[in-house]
Amino acid sequence: MTAARGTRLSRRSVLTSALALTACGRGATRASADPAQAAARRGPVPLLRDLAPFQIGTEIVSDDFGPGFDAVASTQFSQITSGYELKMEYILQPDGRLRFEGGDRIAAFCAANHQALHAHTLIWYIDNPPSFQKLEGDRKAFDAAYGRYIQAVAGRYAGQARAWDVVNEPINDDGETLRESIWTRNLGLEGHFIRAHEAAREADPHALLFVNEYGLESNPKKRAKFLNFVEAMLKRGVPIDGIGTQNHVNFELPPGQITAALRDAASLGLPVHLSEFDCSLQTDGPSLMARPDRLKAQNRLYREALEAFVALPEKQQYAFTIWGVRDKDSWLRTATWVKDHTDAPLLFDDDARPKETFWTLADVLRGR
Ligand code: XIL
Repeated sequence: MTAARGTRLSRRSVLTSALALTACGRGATRASADPAQAAARRGPVPLLRDLAPFQIGTEIVSDDFGPGFDAVASTQFSQITSGYELKMEYILQPDGRLRFEGGDRIAAFCAANHQALHAHTLIWYIDNPPSFQKLEGDRKAFDAAYGRYIQAVAGRYAGQARAWDVVNEPINDDGETLRESIWTRNLGLEGHFIRAHEAAREADPHALLFVNEYGLESNPKKRAKFLNFVEAMLKRGVPIDGIGTQNHVNFELPPGQITAALRDAASLGLPVHLSEFDCSLQTDGPSLMARPDRLKAQNRLYREALEAFVALPEKQQYAFTIWGVRDKDSWLRTATWVKDHTDAPLLFDDDARPKETFWTLADVLRGR
């Protein structure tokens, strides 16, 4: 589904129609609307990767590569998540050929900067590629093509990827059902998930296999369904090595919800990836809160998220990942439907200067 131009999608519909974003170019952006936020708060800028005893990551798309971006992305973070070029929508061409130039660029960036690569994502309900549509109804052929795709992609990055998000966003927002897709129609609601994890394990036995979901901090029913599903899959012997909880939030999220959700996510005993953190200053509905107060709320949520992650048992601290480097790189700024180009959801402003959110994370990592 692509949003009609000017349609103000709710956050939820944005999260469930990320495909609409894949068609977006990098929108024109304005200088940071928060000069005070580009705080050279004090002294030399520390490196988060030096302060964190666990992997601290960001999401990148190779379109963003360039001097200002590279200088921050290559030095501040110890792990990279591929935001686009390791997805099926980039790799799998309409004629069935596979395109790896973008994924190879991301992998090379990681290798050059001694960063771990978190590969995202093999199977997503949003994808509906023509080459698989042609196989619908022929389960044997569909299953073989599904396995071949996962083998080809996860196999190519074996030894380079620390982990894969194998199936992205398997649970419906209603918190009652598994999402349906071309994958579930042809391989089954649970079958497509099991097949994907087994194929990924076979393709790259050393990669950690994650299942990644959004809305766990704001939708307790969905969180319960997700965790019950993962637990049921584990009991069936499905190879799952970790849980990704995206945490795309906005400044209105009440305090304590991120903490509660992270604690629940850790209840299965698996490594936990706080996998896609950003905190938007926009809201789904009208808000009278002035920007300075929104920024304060945003910083409180950044602090809460990292403090909650640090409170996890060390063996469960897989990585803390921010979904983008500079505000202008954020998917919340680049989509064609975005009207307010002053959103500032990340750690660095449009000019790659550290913001208050950056200093907040640095303070938490330094025990302040
Ligand atoms: C977004 C990327 O940030 C964009 O660059 C891309 O165009 C669309 O997808 N949840 C996910 C991510 O798991 O894959 C989505 O990333 C954001 C929502």
